[in-house]
This record gives sequence, structure tokens and C-alpha cells, in this order.
Amino acid sequence: MKVLVIGGGGREHALAWKIAQSPLVDKLFCAPGNAGIEQHAECVDIDSGDLRALRRFARDQGIDLTVTGPEAPLCAGIVDSFEAWGLKIFGPTKVAARLEGSKVFAKSLMERHNIRTAPFRTFDSADRAKAYIDMVGVPIVVKADGLAAGKAAIVCRSKEEAHEAVSRIMIEGEFGEAGQHTVIEECLSGEEVSVLALTDGQCIALLPSCQDHKAALDGDAGPNTGGMGAYSPAPVLTPAMETIVERDVIVQTIHAMNREERPYRGVLYAGLMLDGESAGVLEYNCRFGDPEMQPLALRLKSDIVPILMATIEGNLADVEIEWHEGAALCVVMASGGYPGSYQKGVPISGLEEVEKMDDVMVFHSGTRREGGRYLTAGGRVLGVTARGDTIAGAKKHAYEAVKKIHFPDAHYRTDIGWRAVGKESNR
Ligand code: AMP
Ligand code: GLY
Repeated sequence: MKVLVIGGGGREHALAWKIAQSPLVDKLFCAPGNAGIEQHAECVDIDSGDLRALRRFARDQGIDLTVTGPEAPLCAGIVDSFEAWGLKIFGPTKVAARLEGSKVFAKSLMERHNIRTAPFRTFDSADRAKAYIDMVGVPIVVKADGLAAGKAAIVCRSKEEAHEAVSRIMIEGEFGEAGQHTVIEECLSGEEVSVLALTDGQCIALLPSCQDHKAALDGDAGPNTGGMGAYSPAPVLTPAMETIVERDVIVQTIHAMNREERPYRGVLYAGLMLDGESAGVLEYNCRFGDPEMQPLALRLKSDIVPILMATIEGNLADVEIEWHEGAALCVVMASGGYPGSYQKGVPISGLEEVEKMDDVMVFHSGTRREGGRYLTAGGRVLGVTARGDTIAGAKKHAYEAVKKIHFPDAHYRTDIGWRAVGKESNR
């Protein structure tokens, strides 16, 4: 089989690493890929947003399976476009990807189908949005409707902050068209968890729970980032809660999409806030999580390719998915300054040392290779991921690896997994 992965971050490295291990795969391509992905795939210089060029490439190379990492091509209709040429591709169609592409759509779907989420209002006028904030008070969350690279949600603790968020989104146009409409919603409290499920539209297969760490600094302080680390499983999601989330969120959402004639196929990612016995949906994503895919890839024992194919072909009920017991944890090493401005092109050392370690994998996000050396090329640089019998064990192992890797001004959190490790030791 020939397989194409679209994207070039840690999530795509994790996917490419797993796909390359499949005995079914003769040739793996990645567009555009990165310096880490190059170890497992032939990287081709096509942007993940260039849908036409990607489709032409897939047809000309006779690609049997395409897997898209990021949301933007899915929301732009890459699945529809490939399927129109008879090409097999993993992910939801454009109308189904709207679950991530429009928060107004996602929230109103949840309202129509009684899926628990924070109470909300939607606005197309900044003045009315601000008047609403004055009426209901703070804390409150202001969100741009469309895609904004994970920066569309602003949690506001004062009215001034909330007014400013509305102005940034709706008047100054910081997120472009994504900010023509806003969702303003109640601020939920509790602990977040990511629940991902594969679905072929009829059958679902829940993946092990994960938790990511969005804040830049230890103790969940500092600005939100694309994710500074993640681990799986997330013990905050007890087996009883997992059953409730599966029934009331995942199955309910897939049914709702079917009833609204937007059949959903691919991976559905629900970002949830857990508070005691209740789980509210914060967001839906229509793709694998990043960094969540990194610990998940390390825990996945089965060949990923038949699983992806069964999801596309409607045979998910026939596949058995096996996972490694224990846990996996990923620590993101970022460029100093991220998520603000940072330096690129600095050399990375120590990767060969980590390659010798068992049960550790370094997934690359923003890297490139020049003259045999690895250089930084982005905000998030590496996802140092390790397996262990427990989350504490995986954490220890991951940080041992992190200590061996160096680049000037490297920044990483030292407390990935702290909530879970606390829960493990209380058992
Ligand atoms: P979103 O863009 O909807 O994925 O939200 C990004 C992040 O903002 C979430 O992971 C939460 O940390 C935070 N967030 C979003 N909505 C809420 C909410 N209603 N209450 C509290 N935090 C929220
Ligand atoms: N880890 C958050 C995301 O993938 O959106």
C-alpha cells in the first residue's frame, strides 16, 4: 500500500511513525512533513492547504490511503475533494467538519440535541455582545466562531477583559473571518479531559482518555499554547464517567450529525470539562489531538492502518484495537518565548542519546535538517514521549530523555502529568 500523511507537526510524526511500522505499507509520503518525519517517510514539499496539489499528487502516485492531521484542510473539504476522484481518505467531509469549523454550529447542535455544554449566546454585533457581558457579568468566555489555530477562546475574569476580547475578535479582526460571529458562554470550572473516538458513522471505538496541558508555564500559569504536554490515560475520567461520556456525548453527537444529514466519519475529539459527576463539552475537534496523538501512538499496540481503513470503509465493528497497558506521557520542548515571538534555526543536540533509550520516542514538531544537523524551526520543537507502568513512571522516563536534549533557550514545563500523579499516589 502507498500512504500519504498530510501535515508537519508532532501529531503527524506520531501518525507517520505508526503507519511506517505497518507490514501493509510499502511506501509512505508526508506533505510537507518535518525533519523527524523524514526518518519514516518521503517528505514532499506541498503545503497542507494546497488541496488541489495534494489531490493531484495522490492520484499520480496511486496513493491507497491519505490521512490528514490538521483541521484546516478537513474544514476546507479535502475529504470531499479526494472522494470525488475515488481516492480513499481518512476524516470527516466538509459539512461534518463544521463541528470544529464553526463554534456557532457546534453550540447550536448541542443545544438542539441536549448535549451538555456551557450556556451561551451568539452575536454578530460587537455592541450587543458587550451589552450582554455587562448584563451577565464575569467570569465569561468569549470565542471567535471559526478556526483560529486554537486561539479562538478567551477566558475573561473582568468586564474590561471581556470587552477587549470582543473588540479584538469583532472590530480589530484579529482572527479574520473567523471573528465575524462570536459565541459568549458561561465559564465552566473543573478539570479538562480529551476524549477521542473513531467512528465510521455507525459504530464507535473510544480511544484511551488523555489530558493535555495548554498553559505555557508550570502550575498551569501563563498564556495558552497549542499544548505543552499530554498523557494517557487521564485518571480524572473514571470508568463510570467514561461510560457516561461515551453515551451522552460521543454517541449522542454522532447520532445528532446523522439526524442532521451530516454523517460523521473519522475521529471525533471532544474537549470536556469534568466537574464531579458532570461533563460539559468545551469544544469539538474533527481530527486527532496534538500533542495527545503522541502518547496515544506510543500506547497503540495494533497496526494503525487496518483501523484507519475500517473507519473509512464502514467496518469498524470488525476490528480489534489493542493498547499497551500502563501509561504514556509527552513533554513538549519549545523555543524560548513561545507562544510569543522566538528564535528559529538553533541547533539541537542529544537526540542520538535518546534514540538508545527503550520505550521513548521523540516526535518532531518544528525542526529542519541542515548539513546533518537538526535545527529548531518552530515554536513547539519536540514532543519527548515515553511509556511506563504508571503515569509517574512514564513521567520519570520522559524527563530523563528531556534532560539529554539541548538547544539554546529551550523551554519546557517540568510538571506534565501533575494532576494524574497526585491521583495515582492517592489510590
Ligand atoms: P476552545 O477553543 O473552545 O477549544 O477552548 C480552548 C480552551 O479554552 C479550553 O481547552 C479551555 O481551557 C478554555 N475554555 C473554553 N471554553 C471554556 C468554558 N466555557 N469554561 C472554561 N474554560 C473554557
Ligand atoms: N490538544 C489540543 C488540540 O489538539 O486541539
